[in-house]
Amino acid sequence: MKIRTSTLRELKNKGIRFAALTSYDMHTASIFDAAGIEVLLVGDSASDNVLANQGTAPITLDEMIPFGKAVARSAQNSLVVFDLPFGSYEVSAEQALITSIRAMKETGAAAVKLEGAKIDQISRIVDNGIPVMGHVGFTPQTLHGLAGYKVQGRDQENADRLMSECLAIQKAGAFAIVLEMIPAALAKEISIALEIPTIGIGAGSDCDGQILVWQDFAGLGERSPKFAKKYLSLRESLQAAAVEYRSEVQNGSFPAIDQQF
Ligand code: KIV
Repeated sequence: MKIRTSTLRELKNKGIRFAALTSYDMHTASIFDAAGIEVLLVGDSASDNVLANQGTAPITLDEMIPFGKAVARSAQNSLVVFDLPFGSYEVSAEQALITSIRAMKETGAAAVKLEGAKIDQISRIVDNGIPVMGHVGFTPQTLHGLAGYKVQGRDQENADRLMSECLAIQKAGAFAIVLEMIPAALAKEISIALEIPTIGIGAGSDCDGQILVWQDFAGLGERSPKFAKKYLSLRESLQAAAVEYRSEVQNGSFPAIDQQF
């Protein structure tokens, strides 16, 4: 079944949780799509997970567009969401709309995501027919402004601020909101208060959906955050396979008769 932004709302209304993963390439997109993962996010986490940058801030729109194209071309059913990179939407609602139009036109994604309570930007993009996913709590693009990797909304004042931001983002027309690194109890309250679905990452089990960076989920990176569960040990498996391949090349057992013409 083709997943649309409205499908996520329907799932929330039925009390059915959904899953999202990041993807930046053809193979992961087609595998996750075939597995029924409802949302594929072409995340700016490609910055530190593909391009070897420190954090997400350095990646540019030009660098992200090819990842978006690959994922949108490879997914049959999953909803493909394109993450607007740092510097491509903050200046004005107009800048945000121009960036979103380019992202939609050039990649074939079905929606865009942006970080923070950028209400003018969200309304302007939505008013022009482009679905927007919000993202609050810990927002990696503004890591330095948040004084590092910290759980957000721990005290009442900040919890109230986060709740107000989510309500404003919903009012501006967003179809879903990512809640990153906030206390589980607060994420539950927000999920109950909102009509649109919440998607948690380090936000407990009471969100309407969950998202993970695929390299964390598959155990590909050297480190992964506390909130991520490794469903595979891909790094170890790939390394073991590479060691075996090298030794077979050295001892002449690869290529064998079957792999020769
Ligand atoms: O870019 C990304 O991977 C994200 C998720 C962490 C939600 O924004």
